Amino acid sequence: MIMNFQTKNALITGAATGIGAATAKQFCQEQIGTLILLDIAEPLLRQFAKELREAYPHTYIITCVADISNQQKLHESLKPLLQQVEHIDILVNSAGVGDENEPEESQIWHKVLGINLHGTYYTSIEVLAFMPNGGRIINVSSILGRAGNVRNTAYCTSKHGILGFTKSLALDLAPRKITVNAVLPGWVDTPMLRREIALNAEKIGADPEQMLRTAKKKIPLKRLTPSDDVANLIAFIASAGAGSITAQSFTIDGGFTCGV
Ligand SMILES: NC(=O)c1ccc[n+]([C@@H]2O[C@H](COP(=O)([O-])OP(=O)(O)OC[C@H]3O[C@@H](n4cnc5c(N)ncnc54)[C@H](O)[C@@H]3O)[C@@H](O)[C@H]2O)c1
Repeated sequence: MIMNFQTKNALITGAATGIGAATAKQFCQEQIGTLILLDIAEPLLRQFAKELREAYPHTYIITCVADISNQQKLHESLKPLLQQVEHIDILVNSAGVGDENEPEESQIWHKVLGINLHGTYYTSIEVLAFMPNGGRIINVSSILGRAGNVRNTAYCTSKHGILGFTKSLALDLAPRKITVNAVLPGWVDTPMLRREIALNAEKIGADPEQMLRTAKKKIPLKRLTPSDDVANLIAFIASAGAGSITAQSFTIDGGFTCGV
């Protein structure tokens, strides 16, 4: 399938690592015109952008160091870049955190909701002013956007919220032929997953590698989802050929939730 990305500009949040970085690489491989890579982790972002520029000189790569949960600062950092590129055809909202919380830990609640849900909203409305008809918005939710989990009230609420936002925004933007969809990854092999497994293993004195092996056994395909697979799905939804797909959510979890 031909993605037809050559004349397109895209913005990806959470682009320094994990799913966001894999998507950036995929878009470069599809010869996208311009990429704005946004992340809060400055050294990682700059290093990754340098690698991409060397490997894919045909793509114009711009970095934006910003915290998506701070609406005013996000606006100040992003607006000049959006004015410079004039249009953003594809927005991928991948930035997120996976902090666990007890129900009464309100600081974590506000942090996780602030980044995962409000940050997705703030970035979307910033970019929408620069998105032409026929644009694409892809929000990264989670299989925990459809299920509950212990010590995860904040995360699950944020990811459920992203699905509501996706569906309603899709209806608002349908007259402009802008599609809005969500992807729901399961266990994806990224720094976030490795951090969480290490933390949980430490709490119970377990071996993280053993915890990973146990997790894989519960996945019908018996493997973690590579971040490149999620990037492929995102690239398809972002492509010209996916113009009739909107307000949908796509699970990519190796079959993990099929029996639930
Ligand atoms: N890895 C998984 O198993 C998995 C499963 C389901 C959903 N997800 C979702 O996928 C998305 C990407 O996760 P990942 O696994 O690639 O994680 P990751 O930690 O590897 O990458 C997330 C990126 O977001 C950035 N970020 C965090 N807070 C930010 C902020 N306030 N402003 C700007 N950037 C910020 C981080 O610096 C990091 O580069 C997240 O929304 C996550 O919830 C991941």
